Amino acid sequence: MGFPNNFLWGGSISAAQIEGAWNEGGKSPVAVDYCTAGSTTGMREIWYLDKDGQRAHQRWEAVGVLPQGAKYQLFDDLHYTNHVASDFYHHYKEDIALMAEMGYTTFNTSISWARIYPYGIKGGINQEGVDFYRNVFEECRKYGMDPVITLYKYDEPVSLNEQYGGWTNRKMIDEFVEFARVCFSEYKDLVNKWMTFNEINIIMPGDDTPKDIAQRNLIYLHHQLVAAAKATIVAHEMDANLKVGAMICGNMAYPLTPDPKDAFARYKKFQDFFCYSADTQVRGEYPSFAQRVWKEWDIDLNISVEDKAILKAGKADFLGFSYYASGVVTTHTTDENDITGGNVLGTVKNPYLEANAWGWQIDPLGFKHFLHIINDRYQVPLFDVENGIGLIEKEDEDGICHDPARIDYHRRHIQAMKEAVEEGVNLFGYTTWGCIDLVSAGTGQMDKKYGFIYVDMDDQGHGDLHRSRKDSFYWYKKVIASNGEDLD
Ligand code: BG6
Repeated sequence: MGFPNNFLWGGSISAAQIEGAWNEGGKSPVAVDYCTAGSTTGMREIWYLDKDGQRAHQRWEAVGVLPQGAKYQLFDDLHYTNHVASDFYHHYKEDIALMAEMGYTTFNTSISWARIYPYGIKGGINQEGVDFYRNVFEECRKYGMDPVITLYKYDEPVSLNEQYGGWTNRKMIDEFVEFARVCFSEYKDLVNKWMTFNEINIIMPGDDTPKDIAQRNLIYLHHQLVAAAKATIVAHEMDANLKVGAMICGNMAYPLTPDPKDAFARYKKFQDFFCYSADTQVRGEYPSFAQRVWKEWDIDLNISVEDKAILKAGKADFLGFSYYASGVVTTHTTDENDITGGNVLGTVKNPYLEANAWGWQIDPLGFKHFLHIINDRYQVPLFDVENGIGLIEKEDEDGICHDPARIDYHRRHIQAMKEAVEEGVNLFGYTTWGCIDLVSAGTGQMDKKYGFIYVDMDDQGHGDLHRSRKDSFYWYKKVIASNGEDLD
């Protein structure tokens, strides 16, 4: 049995986290260009001038908007990890060659909107940006990779946020759809699998979200869902061979106790965090429980007949998702010490699982469980876009980064995924997150390594950016060559 012969194997990265060259090639700044690095215990921060012209900073948020009256500002005494990142912009040929050496049959990255339309539609297309991605995708094709490309990963040009105040303004829908149209049209000969918004659900309000922020995020999310559907319609009209997927941040959690209240709280979290967005994108309409969500947050989205028709007509062709770790939900009071980290959301500790330095709880069986849940619910082809583990790593004296913990993590997750596929889950590909070391999205660190390819760069900007093959590089090469059979 095992994986089907045409199963796609590869790795995933994203423009803002890997490219660097933040102000080269006609690119305009994006919000993370103003962010400094956090640590194992602290998230990254964005720095700016507040409405009184005073230097200020706050935890970075994927919505990208600053407080009222604030202005994005760089400060000379701060180090911004995204400015150079892994410098893929200048190393892409070398990096793609290394990926090809591992045997990749696919590759996922995102296109920086700020390279294509640095100042929005009014500012016109930046040909240098268009050429850059053509070169990248041609390089992939040269080695026989079938790239799956993401359009948006929390990196709209800040010029658009300044013009429109962010995604609460419907004008962002038109801006995005035009950006998407240019990408489909420029690259349709090289790329036929696309994803609209990366982890569109991560701004979904949770228990602690203040009401005004929750209301803002629900409007923001509605506009992105409509934009995604419109872009999907544009792609299908342009070329019936283009497949456009959704990409949702995975959510796998357990109730802490058998208390039915815990079990229901867990289910509700899954509905709100995962299904609210995934149902809308895959089924073409908000799920019935969305009424309950809107009531809880005291908001009426006033969804027009036109928006409903767009959502219906622009359904996703496949469901992409990320899965890193699982969580725990409870309605019982928890001590602060019982809280641990997780992708986007902190969670309650699971006594049965180990965690990495950031507290993300490693759970391969949870991965299999999650694959079954979403396969049963959505009945569309699934694509695992992100799966990986953040570790602190350095090259050893022999010049090699020995990373048994990474191999162990992927071995167990691929084994779990294989079992799920053998049990009928319709999964067509797997890309490991951060196949080459890059800047962490949550903490902005370069020290948080995810790759099979080591990049010599740390949180303070020390490093010469040389690349080297980790032990996991050779291990993954063997996995791909054997189509997932040889996991030793
Ligand atoms: C995913 C994001 O949710 O998590 C990636 O799509 C991110 O961009 C990844 O890098 C890992 O999170 P972090 O915070 O460790 O970078």
